[in-house]
Amino acid sequence: MKIEFAAAAAPLAKSSAVAAIVYENGGLSSGAAGLDKAVGGAIKRAIAGGRFTGAAGQTLELVAPQGVEAARIVLVGGGAKAGFDGDAAEAAAAHAYQAVKTSGAEVLHFRLPGAAAEISSRAALGVRLAAYRFDRYRTREKPEKKPSIARVQFSVDDPKAAAKAFKPLAGLADAILFARNLVSEPANILYPEEFARRVKKLGDLGLEVEILGEKEMKKLGMGALLGVGQGSRRESQLAILQWKGAKDSAAQPVAFVGKGVCFDSGGISIKPADGMEEMITDMGGAAAVSGLMYALASRKAKVNAVGILGLVENMPDGNAQRPGDVVTTMSGQTVEVINTDAEGRLVLADAVWYCQDRFKPKFIVDLATLTGAIIISLGKDLAGLFSNNDVLAANLLSASKTSGEVLWRMPLPPQYERKIDSNVADMKNVGPRHGGSITAALFIQRFTNGVPWAHLDIAPTAWKPDSKVPTIPSGATGFGVRLLDRLVADFYEG
Ligand code: BES
Ligand code: MN
Ligand code: ZN
Repeated sequence: MKIEFAAAAAPLAKSSAVAAIVYENGGLSSGAAGLDKAVGGAIKRAIAGGRFTGAAGQTLELVAPQGVEAARIVLVGGGAKAGFDGDAAEAAAAHAYQAVKTSGAEVLHFRLPGAAAEISSRAALGVRLAAYRFDRYRTREKPEKKPSIARVQFSVDDPKAAAKAFKPLAGLADAILFARNLVSEPANILYPEEFARRVKKLGDLGLEVEILGEKEMKKLGMGALLGVGQGSRRESQLAILQWKGAKDSAAQPVAFVGKGVCFDSGGISIKPADGMEEMITDMGGAAAVSGLMYALASRKAKVNAVGILGLVENMPDGNAQRPGDVVTTMSGQTVEVINTDAEGRLVLADAVWYCQDRFKPKFIVDLATLTGAIIISLGKDLAGLFSNNDVLAANLLSASKTSGEVLWRMPLPPQYERKIDSNVADMKNVGPRHGGSITAALFIQRFTNGVPWAHLDIAPTAWKPDSKVPTIPSGATGFGVRLLDRLVADFYEG
């Protein structure tokens, strides 16, 4: 889909929809007023004749309007005029796109005269995110179900300024869609080596990408990560992405580690069949870290950042690891594997240790679709935040507020440590069912070696099959990319 910025009141294409904002009870935006004039007051009459108030999220369509070329007009509620900011513009544009995407219109004109570049660029971002769909494997979708909009044109006072403001946001959109595609791909296509190939291509953006295979990881002593992948026909991989954007390319980096379980069958502690297919998304943490590194590189962020992806497949097999096995991690600590379905923390144990050991970063944030228990705790709209550092946690909560990717802080109570004590090894990989997301986080903390660290359990938010958010079509969300891009931009650049 093409995004363009054109001069205000650019001519309308015949096969098009034209959108404009109406504020809640506060009347028409200047774009809507201009259209109302062209159609002889039909917009005001349509509003008077129905329940459309201009509240955020509402849309009202006028089809075959007389006086304009467009095939339809779509009015979109902007909410209160005084509160119409970038966030509101992004949501409104996304709603407008959703309303007309399969209408048959090929062009969506968005009338935003008078809007600052900050508003129109955010509207364009909203459309890019709203238009995401994963249709690679649909070979016979009915034409009328396919989106018809091929081009979205925003008419604004200063198209050059708008295009300039959109440039970094276009990179962010690309990064989010990159992450969403990784999450959406089935596990027969996206296995660890294929994931590694896809991030290797990010070298084109200026990232340095290294891939370690099983042989190298064995040398490093990554017994926990390798144990998880041991039952898979696919080779486990560790991907290391580096962005060196700081003035001093040797300056201490910030670091992000992602759980990349390309498929989680549970292993020998096999999961129930019902819903197991959702476990193709168990690499959502690694996808978010990849998307973040993409975003940082594409906007040439003034920071040194490291992204580490632990890529494995968790399968039952004659060679799979067994409940009761004891593995030795890269840190030297031993783990009794009670449940092979608690595999994410085993992958992170080695990936997080490797990260702190090699890079000595300012902090590590790990992202993982780690536990079902966090979904029980927080529901599907919040991700869990666990941290050993109040400054890092506060910065993450701030970025969470501004990015709209919402975190909720969870505790790391020392008195729960004994719940992962083992009789045969230094620890076991599961605690009791109750508080399962907390003992999982306590487990990872043992591999941080005291570095400021935060763990984001994104099991609730990585995959939203019934999303109602207009910028998040149902399925893969790309959760974490925007949040961490904000974290870096607001606190760690320059
Ligand atoms: N990948 C799952 C967690 C998960 C569940 C993510 C649902 C997304 C949606 C993880 O590897 C897992 O299996 N966790 C177990 C841990 C248990 C065995 C201690 C769980 O949460 O049940
Ligand atoms: Mn599991
Ligand atoms: Zn898992």
